[in-house]
Amino acid sequence: MRQPVVMGNWKLNGSKAMVTDLLTALNAELEGVTGVDVAVAPPALYVDLAERTLTDAGSAIILGAQNTDVNNSGAFTGDMSPEMLKDFGATHIIIGHSERRQYHNESDEFIAQKFAFLKENGLTPVFCIGESEAQNEAGETEAVCARQIDAVINNSGVEALNGAIIAYEPIWAIGTGKAATADDAQRIHASIRAHIAAKSEEVAKNVVIQYGGSVKPENAEAYFAQPDIDGALVGGAALDAKSFAAIAKAAAKAKA
Ligand code: 13P
Repeated sequence: MRQPVVMGNWKLNGSKAMVTDLLTALNAELEGVTGVDVAVAPPALYVDLAERTLTDAGSAIILGAQNTDVNNSGAFTGDMSPEMLKDFGATHIIIGHSERRQYHNESDEFIAQKFAFLKENGLTPVFCIGESEAQNEAGETEAVCARQIDAVINNSGVEALNGAIIAYEPIWAIGTGKAATADDAQRIHASIRAHIAAKSEEVAKNVVIQYGGSVKPENAEAYFAQPDIDGALVGGAALDAKSFAAIAKAAAKAKA
Protein backbone atom coordinates (compact mmCIF):
# COMPACT_ATOMS: atom_id res chain seq x y z
CA MET A 1 0.00 0.00 0.00
CA ARG A 2 1.45 3.35 -1.03
CA GLN A 3 1.07 6.17 1.49
CA PRO A 4 0.00 9.36 -0.32
CA VAL A 5 2.33 12.36 -0.17
CA VAL A 6 0.99 15.91 -0.46
CA MET A 7 3.74 18.48 -0.82
CA GLY A 8 3.55 22.26 -1.00
CA ASN A 9 6.00 23.90 -3.38
CA TRP A 10 6.09 27.51 -2.24
CA LYS A 11 8.26 28.55 -5.19
CA LEU A 12 9.59 32.12 -4.84
CA ASN A 13 7.07 33.17 -2.21
CA GLY A 14 7.55 33.91 1.45
CA SER A 15 8.72 36.15 4.25
CA LYS A 16 9.65 35.44 7.86
CA ALA A 17 6.13 36.30 8.98
CA MET A 18 4.56 34.17 6.29
CA VAL A 19 6.69 31.12 7.16
CA THR A 20 5.75 31.14 10.84
CA ASP A 21 2.09 32.05 10.25
CA LEU A 22 1.51 29.52 7.48
CA LEU A 23 3.30 26.63 9.21
CA THR A 24 1.64 27.32 12.57
CA ALA A 25 -1.81 27.43 10.95
CA LEU A 26 -1.09 24.37 8.82
CA ASN A 27 0.10 22.37 11.79
CA ALA A 28 -3.12 23.20 13.65
CA GLU A 29 -5.27 22.30 10.62
CA LEU A 30 -3.55 18.93 10.31
CA GLU A 31 -3.93 17.89 13.92
CA GLY A 32 -5.14 14.29 14.11
CA VAL A 33 -4.84 13.75 10.35
CA THR A 34 -3.16 10.42 9.55
CA GLY A 35 -2.64 8.33 6.43
CA VAL A 36 -0.90 11.05 4.42
CA ASP A 37 2.62 12.46 4.45
CA VAL A 38 2.48 16.25 4.29
CA ALA A 39 5.58 18.14 3.21
CA VAL A 40 6.51 21.74 2.47
CA ALA A 41 9.29 23.20 0.34
CA PRO A 42 9.93 26.83 1.31
CA PRO A 43 12.50 28.96 -0.52
CA ALA A 44 16.02 27.97 0.62
CA LEU A 45 16.51 31.09 2.71
CA TYR A 46 13.55 30.14 4.88
CA VAL A 47 14.34 26.45 5.45
CA ASP A 48 16.08 27.36 8.72
CA LEU A 49 13.10 29.25 10.09
CA ALA A 50 10.73 26.54 8.85
CA GLU A 51 12.75 23.90 10.71
CA ARG A 52 12.66 25.88 13.93
CA THR A 53 8.94 26.60 13.59
CA LEU A 54 8.06 22.96 12.93
CA THR A 55 10.31 21.69 15.73
CA ASP A 56 8.85 24.15 18.25
CA ALA A 57 5.35 23.01 17.30
CA GLY A 58 6.31 19.32 17.55
CA SER A 59 4.94 19.06 14.01
CA ALA A 60 4.85 15.95 11.82
CA ILE A 61 5.06 18.10 8.67
CA ILE A 62 8.03 17.01 6.57
CA LEU A 63 10.50 19.70 5.56
CA GLY A 64 11.75 19.90 2.00
CA ALA A 65 13.45 22.24 -0.42
CA GLN A 66 13.13 23.25 -4.05
CA ASN A 67 16.56 22.48 -5.46
CA THR A 68 20.02 21.10 -4.78
CA ASP A 69 23.49 21.22 -6.27
CA VAL A 70 25.44 18.11 -7.30
CA ASN A 71 28.33 18.89 -4.89
CA ASN A 72 28.40 18.99 -1.11
CA SER A 73 30.92 21.82 -0.80
CA GLY A 74 33.53 23.78 -2.70
CA ALA A 75 33.81 26.60 -5.22
CA PHE A 76 30.23 26.61 -6.49
CA THR A 77 28.98 30.15 -5.97
CA GLY A 78 25.29 30.50 -5.27
CA ASP A 79 24.61 26.80 -4.80
CA MET A 80 23.23 24.77 -1.96
CA SER A 81 24.12 21.19 -1.11
CA PRO A 82 22.36 18.07 0.17
CA GLU A 83 24.59 18.17 3.26
CA MET A 84 23.42 21.72 4.03
CA LEU A 85 19.80 20.79 3.46
CA LYS A 86 20.21 17.83 5.79
CA ASP A 87 21.83 20.09 8.37
CA PHE A 88 18.51 21.98 8.51
CA GLY A 89 16.32 18.87 8.59
CA ALA A 90 15.14 19.03 4.97
CA THR A 91 14.59 15.56 3.54
CA HIS A 92 12.31 15.86 0.48
CA ILE A 93 14.03 17.78 -2.29
CA ILE A 94 12.29 18.85 -5.48
CA ILE A 95 14.37 18.41 -8.61
CA GLY A 96 13.60 18.79 -12.29
CA HIS A 97 10.75 21.21 -11.83
CA SER A 98 9.70 22.59 -15.21
CA GLU A 99 10.56 26.10 -13.99
CA ARG A 100 14.16 24.96 -13.38
CA ARG A 101 14.23 23.17 -16.72
CA GLN A 102 12.88 26.25 -18.50
CA TYR A 103 14.51 29.23 -16.74
CA HIS A 104 17.80 27.55 -15.80
CA ASN A 105 18.22 25.27 -18.80
CA GLU A 106 18.45 22.15 -16.66
CA SER A 107 18.79 19.06 -18.84
CA ASP A 108 17.47 15.55 -18.23
CA GLU A 109 21.07 14.45 -17.63
CA PHE A 110 21.80 17.19 -15.06
CA ILE A 111 18.58 16.37 -13.24
CA ALA A 112 19.57 12.69 -13.26
CA GLN A 113 22.87 13.71 -11.60
CA LYS A 114 20.93 15.62 -8.93
CA PHE A 115 18.73 12.59 -8.39
CA ALA A 116 21.76 10.34 -7.90
CA PHE A 117 23.46 12.81 -5.56
CA LEU A 118 20.38 13.18 -3.37
CA LYS A 119 20.11 9.40 -3.06
CA GLU A 120 23.82 9.14 -2.26
CA ASN A 121 23.21 11.62 0.55
CA GLY A 122 20.19 9.76 1.91
CA LEU A 123 17.62 12.35 0.81
CA THR A 124 14.31 11.83 -0.99
CA PRO A 125 14.16 13.20 -4.53
CA VAL A 126 10.80 14.64 -5.56
CA PHE A 127 11.48 14.20 -9.24
CA CYS A 128 9.30 16.33 -11.54
CA ILE A 129 8.45 15.32 -15.08
CA GLY A 130 5.86 16.51 -17.56
CA GLU A 131 5.15 17.71 -21.05
CA SER A 132 4.63 21.14 -22.60
CA GLU A 133 1.37 22.18 -24.21
CA ALA A 134 2.81 21.66 -27.70
CA GLN A 135 4.05 18.18 -26.78
CA ASN A 136 0.66 17.40 -25.29
CA GLU A 137 -1.13 18.50 -28.44
CA ALA A 138 1.29 16.45 -30.54
CA GLY A 139 0.40 13.34 -28.53
CA GLU A 140 3.92 13.06 -27.11
CA THR A 141 3.08 13.09 -23.40
CA GLU A 142 3.90 9.45 -22.63
CA ALA A 143 7.12 9.57 -24.68
CA VAL A 144 8.32 12.77 -22.96
CA CYS A 145 7.67 11.33 -19.50
CA ALA A 146 9.40 8.06 -20.44
CA ARG A 147 12.45 9.96 -21.74
CA GLN A 148 12.69 12.06 -18.56
CA ILE A 149 12.43 8.96 -16.35
CA ASP A 150 14.89 7.02 -18.48
CA ALA A 151 17.54 9.68 -17.84
CA VAL A 152 17.41 8.67 -14.15
CA ILE A 153 17.08 4.94 -14.79
CA ASN A 154 20.01 4.96 -17.24
CA ASN A 155 22.17 6.88 -14.78
CA SER A 156 21.26 5.17 -11.51
CA GLY A 157 19.29 2.01 -12.34
CA VAL A 158 15.59 1.41 -11.80
CA GLU A 159 16.11 0.43 -8.15
CA ALA A 160 17.13 4.03 -7.43
CA LEU A 161 13.46 4.96 -7.78
CA ASN A 162 12.77 3.00 -4.58
CA GLY A 163 11.81 5.53 -1.92
CA ALA A 164 11.85 8.42 -4.39
CA ILE A 165 8.78 10.40 -5.39
CA ILE A 166 7.81 11.17 -8.98
CA ALA A 167 5.67 14.24 -9.63
CA TYR A 168 3.85 14.32 -12.95
CA GLU A 169 3.29 17.99 -13.69
CA PRO A 170 1.98 18.85 -17.17
CA ILE A 171 3.56 22.25 -17.81
CA TRP A 172 0.38 23.70 -19.34
CA ALA A 173 -1.48 22.98 -16.08
CA ILE A 174 0.99 24.74 -13.77
CA GLY A 175 -0.34 27.98 -12.35
CA THR A 176 -2.90 28.24 -15.15
CA GLY A 177 -6.05 26.97 -13.47
CA LYS A 178 -6.24 24.60 -16.46
CA ALA A 179 -5.82 21.35 -14.55
CA ALA A 180 -5.63 17.98 -16.28
CA THR A 181 -8.84 15.99 -15.89
CA ALA A 182 -8.59 13.24 -13.29
CA ASP A 183 -9.09 10.64 -16.06
CA ASP A 184 -6.30 12.08 -18.23
CA ALA A 185 -3.96 12.32 -15.24
CA GLN A 186 -4.75 8.71 -14.27
CA ARG A 187 -4.01 7.53 -17.82
CA ILE A 188 -0.57 9.21 -17.77
CA HIS A 189 0.21 8.00 -14.25
CA ALA A 190 -0.65 4.45 -15.31
CA SER A 191 1.63 4.78 -18.35
CA ILE A 192 4.49 6.08 -16.15
CA ARG A 193 4.01 3.17 -13.77
CA ALA A 194 3.87 0.70 -16.67
CA HIS A 195 7.06 2.16 -18.11
CA ILE A 196 8.82 1.56 -14.79
CA ALA A 197 7.20 -1.88 -14.43
CA ALA A 198 8.84 -2.97 -17.68
CA LYS A 199 12.14 -2.68 -15.75
CA SER A 200 10.90 -3.67 -12.29
CA GLU A 201 7.35 -4.50 -11.26
CA GLU A 202 8.30 -4.23 -7.61
CA VAL A 203 9.68 -0.69 -7.97
CA ALA A 204 6.67 0.36 -10.07
CA LYS A 205 4.24 -0.97 -7.49
CA ASN A 206 5.85 0.96 -4.63
CA VAL A 207 6.86 4.28 -6.17
CA VAL A 208 4.72 7.28 -5.22
CA ILE A 209 3.54 9.27 -8.25
CA GLN A 210 2.07 12.67 -7.43
CA TYR A 211 0.01 14.83 -9.75
CA GLY A 212 0.79 18.55 -9.90
CA GLY A 213 -0.76 21.44 -11.81
CA SER A 214 -3.59 23.62 -10.53
CA VAL A 215 -4.55 21.23 -7.72
CA LYS A 216 -7.15 22.89 -5.49
CA PRO A 217 -9.44 21.69 -2.69
CA GLU A 218 -12.24 21.60 -5.29
CA ASN A 219 -10.57 19.12 -7.63
CA ALA A 220 -8.29 17.20 -5.24
CA GLU A 221 -10.74 14.45 -4.36
CA ALA A 222 -11.20 13.45 -8.01
CA TYR A 223 -7.45 12.96 -8.46
CA PHE A 224 -7.00 10.95 -5.30
CA ALA A 225 -9.89 8.66 -6.26
CA GLN A 226 -7.66 7.42 -9.13
CA PRO A 227 -5.67 4.27 -8.41
CA ASP A 228 -2.31 5.54 -9.72
CA ILE A 229 -2.40 9.07 -8.27
CA ASP A 230 -0.64 8.96 -4.90
CA GLY A 231 -0.83 12.55 -3.76
CA ALA A 232 -0.08 15.98 -5.15
CA LEU A 233 2.61 18.58 -5.61
CA VAL A 234 0.80 21.83 -4.96
CA GLY A 235 1.87 25.36 -5.87
CA GLY A 236 -0.61 28.23 -5.45
CA ALA A 237 -3.02 26.44 -3.12
CA ALA A 238 -0.15 25.50 -0.78
CA LEU A 239 0.23 29.16 0.22
CA ASP A 240 -3.05 29.03 2.13
CA ALA A 241 -3.18 26.80 5.22
CA LYS A 242 -6.86 25.90 4.92
CA SER A 243 -6.66 25.09 1.20
CA PHE A 244 -3.49 23.06 1.50
CA ALA A 245 -4.79 21.17 4.55
CA ALA A 246 -8.03 20.42 2.69
CA ILE A 247 -6.01 18.84 -0.13
CA ALA A 248 -3.98 16.76 2.34
CA LYS A 249 -7.15 15.64 4.12
CA ALA A 250 -8.73 14.66 0.79
CA ALA A 251 -5.71 12.44 0.07
CA ALA A 252 -5.89 10.80 3.51
CA LYS A 253 -9.60 10.13 3.11
CA ALA A 254 -9.46 8.80 -0.45
CA LYS A 255 -6.59 6.41 0.24
CA ALA A 256 -7.76 5.19 3.68
P1 13P B 1 0.20 25.24 -9.16
O1 13P B 1 -0.45 24.35 -8.13
O2 13P B 1 0.26 26.66 -8.76
O3 13P B 1 -0.39 25.03 -10.53
O4 13P B 1 1.74 24.77 -9.27
C1 13P B 1 2.04 23.44 -9.45
C2 13P B 1 3.49 23.25 -9.32
O5 13P B 1 4.28 23.66 -10.16
C3 13P B 1 3.97 22.58 -8.10
O6 13P B 1 5.33 22.25 -8.22
